[in-house]
Amino acid sequence: MKLKRRFGLVFTSVILAGVLTACGTSDDKDESSTGSSNDTDKNVLIMGTSADYPPFEFVETATGEEIKGFDVDLAKALGKKLGYEVKPKDIDFNGLIPALENGQADLVLAGMTPTPERIKTVDFSDTYYTSRNMIITKKGSDIKTPADLEGKTVGVQLASIQEGLVTDLVKEEKLDIKVEKLNRIPEIVQQIISGRYDAAVIEDTVSKGYLADNKELVGSLIEDGSEEAGSAIAFKKDSKLKDEFNEKLKEMKENGEVEKLVLKWFGDGAAK
Ligand code: ARG
Repeated sequence: MKLKRRFGLVFTSVILAGVLTACGTSDDKDESSTGSSNDTDKNVLIMGTSADYPPFEFVETATGEEIKGFDVDLAKALGKKLGYEVKPKDIDFNGLIPALENGQADLVLAGMTPTPERIKTVDFSDTYYTSRNMIITKKGSDIKTPADLEGKTVGVQLASIQEGLVTDLVKEEKLDIKVEKLNRIPEIVQQIISGRYDAAVIEDTVSKGYLADNKELVGSLIEDGSEEAGSAIAFKKDSKLKDEFNEKLKEMKENGEVEKLVLKWFGDGAAK
């Protein structure tokens, strides 16, 4: 009898343990399945970016697929403060605004400048960094100013403000320039090296890296102050994320956290 009862007890506890384990497993399963359900997805934000823009965003081919850079650090830091996990996604620059519009990306950090044209279709945060534009050409070339681009073939990134800048030289300054638009900056740089393009217009902070890696190239800053290229975060129109992110961005600007990232990525001996 005693034995029987004990057996019963053991048996019951085994069953109980089994049930508990089963519950545990099903709990785990539930957790992992919510991982892809809407509830948890709310905490994951897809950051659209065009990872051809060191030190803003780039893929280090040697170390694999990971997208790194100033924009990635900034977005992740902002996300962390707001309880989001930010995942960068590489998209051609001209596809970034469409990606926001069709929901493929929740926010865009791509050294993107808030232009009046873009503001019509997406919302922007405050500016978090400002650079200027540079003309890149081969050493020994006599191209130094926008006027020197007359009669030349000039590469720009498709849909960038640099495309706008060179197109304006053609339309408004009536310069005779062959404007070549490519998706990816390294391809443009390659065309200059191979002699197919005479020059390119690229942001100075980004040019710096390409100049350091390609000693046959030189850059001249475009002195006209009106041609500044500010960077801001873009969101789908009326996204509630904008205010949240903007508030934290303001904090990070005030408390020096943005400055720290600027030094890390753009300072002397900057991270790569
Ligand atoms: N600032 C320029 C623009 O907004 C160029 C940005 C290019 N960014 C990139 N990740 N390739 O048009």
